[in-house]
Amino acid sequence: MRITSLEDYHQQYQKSIENPAAFWDKIAQNFYWQKKWDSVYEADFEKAKFSWFKGAELNITENCLDRHVRKNPDKIAFHWEPNNPSEDSINITYQELQDRVCRFSYVLHEKGIGKGDRVCLYMPMIPELVVAMLACARIGAVHSIVFAGFSSKALENRINDAQCKLLITANSFYRGSKLISLKEICDVALENTPTIENVIVYRRTIEITPMQEGRDTFWFDELSKAYKECDPAVMNAEDPLFILYTSGSTGKPKGVVHTCGGYMVGTTYSFENVFQVDENDVYWCTADIGWITGHSYIVYGPLAFGATSVLFEGVPTYPDYRRFWQIVQKYQVSHFYTAPTAIRMLAKQGEKYVDAESLTSLKILGTVGEPINEEAWEWYNEVIGQRKCPILDTWWQTETGAIMISALADVTPNKPTFATLPLPGVLPALMDEDGKEIVFNGKEIQGNLCIKNPWPSMARTIWSDHERFKKVYFSTYKGKYFTGDGALRDADGNYRITGRVDDIIIISGHNLSTAPIENAINEIEIVGESAIVGYPDDIKGNALYAFISLKEGTSDEESIKKAILEKISQDIGAIAKPSKIQIVEDLPKTRSGKIMRRILRKIAAGERDFGDTSTLLNPDVVEKIKAKAIS
Ligand code: WT7
Repeated sequence: MRITSLEDYHQQYQKSIENPAAFWDKIAQNFYWQKKWDSVYEADFEKAKFSWFKGAELNITENCLDRHVRKNPDKIAFHWEPNNPSEDSINITYQELQDRVCRFSYVLHEKGIGKGDRVCLYMPMIPELVVAMLACARIGAVHSIVFAGFSSKALENRINDAQCKLLITANSFYRGSKLISLKEICDVALENTPTIENVIVYRRTIEITPMQEGRDTFWFDELSKAYKECDPAVMNAEDPLFILYTSGSTGKPKGVVHTCGGYMVGTTYSFENVFQVDENDVYWCTADIGWITGHSYIVYGPLAFGATSVLFEGVPTYPDYRRFWQIVQKYQVSHFYTAPTAIRMLAKQGEKYVDAESLTSLKILGTVGEPINEEAWEWYNEVIGQRKCPILDTWWQTETGAIMISALADVTPNKPTFATLPLPGVLPALMDEDGKEIVFNGKEIQGNLCIKNPWPSMARTIWSDHERFKKVYFSTYKGKYFTGDGALRDADGNYRITGRVDDIIIISGHNLSTAPIENAINEIEIVGESAIVGYPDDIKGNALYAFISLKEGTSDEESIKKAILEKISQDIGAIAKPSKIQIVEDLPKTRSGKIMRRILRKIAAGERDFGDTSTLLNPDVVEKIKAKAIS
């Protein structure tokens, strides 16, 4: 499966494009299947229907656990590092992980969970999160993980959309020095989630948590009754493995559905080839499992491959800015994968927290989540990589399941700020404004990024809304998957992602849509209208600027701003709070009444030239807003 040289890459790439069925058939042979497939893939772009390894049967956990346990039971799967460095860390072998997964599978059975049932996981970064995920996969239940930074309202919406029967959470936990009372957030959501029958609570801290008799039980009490054996459920390759919600440009988040067979093949193949991890390496992805990066490159990819990973509960700033590098040294991390926003934040502190001694084990660096600017790239390369580590700028999405465009470590060349080349099996296209593909003939081109062919780990649908799946991804450009990103291709064929071309804004590597934030604000009684735009921020990549008009004037803008921030925290979560809020007399509008976000974006970015505003319904408000803009 492993690509070993640049020449090999070109050959494999060629093969994957000329005969994808033969290419993926061969790769899929490297996994354990209970029954082989009837066809490698089928694709219908018109209907947005795709299948991979149809007819095959497998259980992904046999690939992540059993087959490694047979050969190498004592290999460490995870070094778990707690939030607080004075607490003990834990090493978990493949054997131990398998035992724990099997026992928890039994608990799930006992709770009446079976194949196809949805289970919501709302948990901190603890080994039990991995155990719960894999136990779901073991019995064929579909997990839906909600990042433990989302609000109760966001949790409620996601539970209801997927109609989850069971919620697994923790009483509370520390993120840095902050105590997060997770169960209390759940309890608010649980008032409006009729499908939830049971709640299992992991006691992470000594804090007392209210429990509802008959519904809520503690993790340890459940486990004490459980057996160690659990035969894996036989799954069809196309059965859903999980749902993961991501922002959409309308208010409602999209439940992206990934399936068992193709997702396993795609994440494992990309993990092996992008990172080139060897037997004794220690790999660390700093993402939270609540996002796709954690699903694919902390859990499924690395485990199916058989890697040793670090699993970190905390944040890079606690107890201080040295934490990441202390962990690198402690576990002799060789492969380090993080987000540009973390790199920029640490770079801003200067080099006093970075001790070169602690970084000698590093061989490969990766980034993901948003475009990495030149300055951050250079700092990562020089200060962290000591100029000896390739930097993998990995471009992909929740919907793609696996890395699509990236350098392969020590195999294909790097270029600062470029994601570089597509992985085998990925055929990108750049589209012009008329919807035509821009032909590449050795000169730089730029356009909207599409993928022209199906790939194994692609999303199959949006949970309970296939029409939306079709519309969002497959209707803008006929016969192609539209990514929502813009990209540039240089004369050598390298791709650079230039950013979103739709209403989605990437903040600290997290995908946020403005519509639900505006909807939340608009529910406040005194608010007339609101418009949220992104503007460039040195650390977060982008930050949010809210323009608000009121139904009636007020002398107390401060309390309105406070109410807005509270409402957003409640409805969506703290990550969606705008950095700037400006109360305006009116929002600039087109004659048809549409808010001109283009102009607001320019004001937010501190630009002066707005082009021709005379066609606006209310051109005079532009100057007024500009005069009071927050810099
Ligand atoms: C969007 C997807 C994929 C895991 C994390 C985000 C942006 C992602 C890069 C990169 C430039 C990137 C894109 C993409 N993005 N990686 N290496 N360079 N932009 O997953 O939340 O689904 O967001 O993140 O805009 O469309 P996501």
